[in-house]
Amino acid sequence: MSTEISGQDRAPDPAPEPPPSSGFDIGPYRLEPLRPSLPVLALAPMAGVANWAFRLVCARLETRLVGVEFVNAKVVGHRSHRIDRLLDYSDAEVYAETGMSVLAAQIYGNEPELIALGARALQERGAQIVDINFGCSVPLVTRKGSCAAYLKDLDRLYEAVRATVEAVDVPVTVKTRIGWDDDTINIVEVVQRAQDAGARAIAVHARTVVQRYSGQARWEWIARAREAARIPVLGNGDVRTCEHALAMVEQTGCDGVMIGRAAIANPWIFSGRNGAPLAERVDLAIELLQLMARFRGERVGVLETRKHLALYFRCLGKQSPVRLRILTTDSLEELLDFLRGWRADLPDDVDEDLSLTGAEAASLAWSGTG
Ligand SMILES: Cc1cc2nc3c(=O)[nH]c(=O)nc-3n(C[C@H](O)[C@H](O)[C@H](O)COP(=O)(O)O)c2cc1C
Repeated sequence: MSTEISGQDRAPDPAPEPPPSSGFDIGPYRLEPLRPSLPVLALAPMAGVANWAFRLVCARLETRLVGVEFVNAKVVGHRSHRIDRLLDYSDAEVYAETGMSVLAAQIYGNEPELIALGARALQERGAQIVDINFGCSVPLVTRKGSCAAYLKDLDRLYEAVRATVEAVDVPVTVKTRIGWDDDTINIVEVVQRAQDAGARAIAVHARTVVQRYSGQARWEWIARAREAARIPVLGNGDVRTCEHALAMVEQTGCDGVMIGRAAIANPWIFSGRNGAPLAERVDLAIELLQLMARFRGERVGVLETRKHLALYFRCLGKQSPVRLRILTTDSLEELLDFLRGWRADLPDDVDEDLSLTGAEAASLAWSGTG
């Protein structure tokens, strides 16, 4: 039997796929997808990771929004090298000039007024957006009434957003989880209270506080948040590949996708790529090492870049002499020389997948200690 389908029987050409998102505004900032086939992608705020150097790399690779490591409102006024480093938002000047990205500095605190005051300091340091952390589940902070503790008292959450909106000129956004535990999922109410208080966007890590990083992110709650919101919703949780990002938009209708752990292993995800050829990974390793050396000094810079290098080169195998050399060389100069020499012999061939497995992502979950 012929399998040919006559012109009449043939299904009509499918309508062109609508773009997952045509972009959205956060205050004066227009965030557009890199390509029509990609969602707007954002780097998640990550303590110990989303520092000045890593942010610049992710912005070059086209993330539209850069999250920053969170800072306690209590310490923003302190003068120390550590605080100066945490509040070094000088990369925002690059983004403002090039329009490549927007920097959302993040604050947390146990008093609404304290958050508002701290937010003003962040704005003075150059933050283009101030994001309030209502999502961190680490007991050390929630026990003191900060971060996700606000999910238990939405009047206080409202007050914190409202006071902050009044205190700063830049847009205020919110990052949160879906609720405290399975019996008290209140993300829809959180969205409503945050937007009523003047928040300009909300990022939703689709887990409860009690869940921490366990189980799967429950994207259905992102969809519920999207339905309830008049402001842009960024979905977050368990996006490890470009396909996951597209699936999140398709399943939830979210306006943008925020990516955390996957970006530690594969910052190319912001360019819509699940990996990169070895030669390009070496180039990026060199770039990140040089930026980290400027940011942290040579010795600490090398040490702190290792977690990224271990992931960029994990395809070589744990016992690979090259990988071991990269992960054990302390001297910046020696390491750069080695990488440049190795690079010279590498072909610029096809992308190798750098996507995290579920187990690898789980191993990068944040315990609040580093
Ligand atoms: C190392 C690390 C540090 C984090 N620090 C912060 C932070 O400072 N502020 C915040 O809102 N979330 C923080 N998070 C949570 C992430 O922003 C994100 O919500 C979470 O990792 C889920 O997204 P993912 O599945 O894409 O990683 C951190 C996560 C990790 C892995």
